[in-house]
Amino acid sequence: MDKFVVNGGNRLKGDVTVSGSKNSALPILAAALLAEGPTVVRNVPELEDIVAMVDLLRSLGCEIRREGKDLHIEVRSEAHSHAEYDRVRKMRASVCVLGPLLAKRKAARVAMPGGCAIGSRPVDLHIRGLRLLGAEIELDSGDMVAAASRLRGAEIFLGGPFGSTVLGTDNVMMAATLAEGTTVIECAACEPEVEDLANFLNKMGARITGAGTPRITIQGVEKLTGCDHTVIPDRIEAGTFMMAAAITNGDVTIRNVRLDHMMAVVDRLREVGVSVERSNGSAIVSSARHLQPADVTTQPYPGFPTDMQAQLMSLLCLADGNSAITEKIYPDRFMHVAELLRMGCNIRKEGPTAIVTGVKKLIGAPVMASDLRASAALVIAGLVAKGQTMVNRVYHLDRGYESFEVKLREIGADIRRVNE
Ligand code: EPU
Repeated sequence: MDKFVVNGGNRLKGDVTVSGSKNSALPILAAALLAEGPTVVRNVPELEDIVAMVDLLRSLGCEIRREGKDLHIEVRSEAHSHAEYDRVRKMRASVCVLGPLLAKRKAARVAMPGGCAIGSRPVDLHIRGLRLLGAEIELDSGDMVAAASRLRGAEIFLGGPFGSTVLGTDNVMMAATLAEGTTVIECAACEPEVEDLANFLNKMGARITGAGTPRITIQGVEKLTGCDHTVIPDRIEAGTFMMAAAITNGDVTIRNVRLDHMMAVVDRLREVGVSVERSNGSAIVSSARHLQPADVTTQPYPGFPTDMQAQLMSLLCLADGNSAITEKIYPDRFMHVAELLRMGCNIRKEGPTAIVTGVKKLIGAPVMASDLRASAALVIAGLVAKGQTMVNRVYHLDRGYESFEVKLREIGADIRRVNE
C-alpha cells in the first residue's frame, strides 16, 4: 500500500494544470451505453475511479480504447446488463449505469451501493424518479432489478432531505432521453457536471433544456448516436490546489480552470484574505501570511461544495480566530477532524458543525483518512506542518486526483510516494 511522505514548509510557486473532471467523466462514460455508433470522450483523467468505470462498461459489452487523455468507446454487445456488487461496492458512481441500461436495453440489474466513509448515501431518489418514468424496480439479493418495455415522460420532483441529488438527476435525465414524450425534472441538481452530461447527451441527439438550473426538460427521442465531447476541468482539483497555494503562503498559477464553476470557493478564499485573480482561463492564487477566520456551510451548487469542505478546514486551522464549518450535505463527513487533531489543530465538533480555532503552527504526524477529499486535506496540512507528515492509504487519493504528488512537486512541494 502506498503512502505519501510530506516535508512541510515549502512555499508553493509556479504553474499547475488541472485535469478533466472525475465527476463529469464518470456519468458521461456511463451515458455512452446509450449510443449507437462510436463515441469519443476527451480530457478523461487517469484515475482509479475511471479504471473502475471502464472495467464495468467492458463487462456490459463496450469496447474501450484509451489514447492519451481520450477514450474511444463503442457498444459491441447488449447481452449483459448486470452491474455486480463487487464493482459497485468499489465505486458508487457505478450506479449511474442504471438509467442508461434501463432506457436502452429495457432491463438492468445493478447492485445497490452500500454506505461509505462519508455517510449512508441512499439511492431512493434515483429509484423514485425511474419508477415515475414507468420502470418496475424490485430489490433482489441486494440488487436493484429494473425493467420497462417503454419509459414514458413524467413530471418528477427530485428533492430530498439534503436537497437535490447529482447522480440521481443524471440517472433520470439519461433514462428520459429515450422515453416517450416529455419529462420535467424539478429540484434537479444544478452542478456543472450535470450540465456537462446534458451537453454530451445533446450532442448524441438528445433534446434537453434547462440543465444547470433546478428545472430540466427532456423531450424523448427515438435513438442516440455517438459523438465527440471534451470533459470540463475538475473544479474540485482546482480548488484543492487553491487551498494548497493559500496554506503555504504561495503564488501559484492554476491552468485550465473554470472560475465561473467555483465562485463559492473563490468568495470564501477572498474573505479569508487569499488573492484569487482570473487570467485567460487560469487562476493566480497568492496569499499573505494572515488568514482571517470564516463561517462556511456546504450546500448544493452554486453553494460551497461538500467536496471542498475538508481542504478548507485545513486552511482555516491556521486562521487568526474561530471558524465554523457546517456540513449540510453529508452531516458525518468529518473523517479528517481526528487526524487533523493529531497534527496540532484545534477543532471541536458539535453535530454537523466543526468549530475550528486557528493555531500558530501545525506539526507533522503519521495520519490516515478513509475518504478521498479527507486525504487531500491531510496532504494540504502536511505541506505547511513542521517536520514530516506521512499520509497513509493513498489509494483513496488515487481514486480522484491525477498525479497529485507529481503536480505538487512541480510547484515546489517536498512530497514523495513510498511503497510499503
Ligand atoms: N441522497 C438521498 N437520496 C438519494 C440520493 C442522495 O437522500 O437517492 C442524499 C445523499 O445522502 C446526500 C445528498 O442527497 O446527503 C446529496 O447526494 P448526491 O446524490 O448529490 O451525491 P452523489 O450524486 O452520490 C456526487 C459526487 C460526490 C459529491 C456529491 C455531492 C460523483 C461521482 N459524486 O455524489 O463526490 O460529494 O455529488 O456534491 O459525482 C467526491 O468526488 O469525493 C464525491 C464524494
